[in-house]
Amino acid sequence: MRIIIINGPNLNLLGKREPEIYGSETFEDLVPAWTERFPELEIEYFQSNHEGKLLDKLHEVGFKADGIILNAGAFTHTSIALRDAISAISTPVIEVHISNVHSREEFRHHSYISAVCAGIIVGFGTEGYALALRYFINQAKG
Ligand code: DQA
Repeated sequence: MRIIIINGPNLNLLGKREPEIYGSETFEDLVPAWTERFPELEIEYFQSNHEGKLLDKLHEVGFKADGIILNAGAFTHTSIALRDAISAISTPVIEVHISNVHSREEFRHHSYISAVCAGIIVGFGTEGYALALRYFINQAKG
């Protein structure tokens, strides 16, 4: 089963960026750890700070992959284009946020993409990605 993790803007700085909110781990460490933990999955990782590149990636994998885990970062709260891309593709998308966006500033409470995602995982730190991976494994088992 092929799962793509797509991270949006500023998530390349994980580990350095506001560690009191986002923790001190890096995706360079996390992705190999998840690959080891979930050997039944083929996990691909993509990050971009550019909205158009995120759209291109969704179009590229969105009819082929078995699942997409998307942390769109701040574009979550601004991008109708990302919402339209998620609606357009057939692969199910899980929206993940490391922090609990609902306990933060008001502008983070609204997501343009939640309504078109299969589910939402918010506020469990980077373990949220692992919960989403687990969901796809359980779904495949039926
Ligand atoms: C985030 C929450 C967003 O509001 C913020 O803009 C991010 C990270 C999270 O994972 O908690 O960049 O998506």
